[in-house]
Amino acid sequence: MLEIRNLVARYGLLTVIGDLSLSIPDGTKVGIFGHNGAGKTTLLRSIIGAHAKSGGSITWNGEALPEGNVPETVSKGIAFVPQGHNVFPTLSVEQNLKIAGLPFGSDLLPEVFNLFPVLHERRAQRAGSMSGGEQQMLALGMAIMTRPKWLLLDEPSTGLAPVIVRNVMDRLRDVNARFGMGLIVVEQNVPATLKLVDRAVIIKSGGIVFDGAAAELSANTDLWKWF
Ligand SMILES: Nc1ncnc2c1ncn2[C@@H]1O[C@H](COP(=O)(O)OP(=O)(O)OP(=O)(O)O)[C@@H](O)[C@H]1O
Ligand SMILES: [Mg+2]
Repeated sequence: MLEIRNLVARYGLLTVIGDLSLSIPDGTKVGIFGHNGAGKTTLLRSIIGAHAKSGGSITWNGEALPEGNVPETVSKGIAFVPQGHNVFPTLSVEQNLKIAGLPFGSDLLPEVFNLFPVLHERRAQRAGSMSGGEQQMLALGMAIMTRPKWLLLDEPSTGLAPVIVRNVMDRLRDVNARFGMGLIVVEQNVPATLKLVDRAVIIKSGGIVFDGAAAELSANTDLWKWF
């Protein structure tokens, strides 16, 4: 269980998240939605320990997650794919995957190639010359190489064509089903994400205004009132 209790996050005097609490059972697929500037990225950065909390606690199975030491958080089983394509552009696809998996071993490489055949086909290609969608899959593959129990994704569909978005969402479903990795997906593409996740959370000005079944939100004709 990932437990966020009374989280407060600030940038200087600006309070971005005020008293946010959220409990997420292991292996769950959660979508986090909300307007621009709502605090979604800040929430992910707080979980991974890249942003220092101003209040509250974040624990996983009762143990406080490290703060200010992202590699240590990753080694504990929580991976983060930030927005944009976070790959080493001058290295090959395969080198990128192996580097990501270095402390964890390369035995997941065949699995990642299995999930994303395009990465196998292009394994010798320079990562920086891959298309946006391919680089997004590579960044996902790199996160999977760390054998996480939780995969935190910040807007994985940004800049991708609809057919690629569907592919990324399908692969995320596979990752969850095959490895039991929990997913926390921050997205602007609410309809595509609702097809993937079980649970939807809407954040408005740093507080939760909706937390329920994804199906409930899908059925909500007045969905946009939350934004
Ligand atoms: N490093 C920073 N310094 C100062 N303010 C920041 C910083 N990072 C974010 N903010 C502010 O905090 C608020 C929340 O930002 P955050 O990036 O968490 O929003 P978001 O929900 O991810 O938005 P988007 O959908 O646009 O990505 C915004 O008002 C933003 O301007
Ligand atoms: Mg953001």
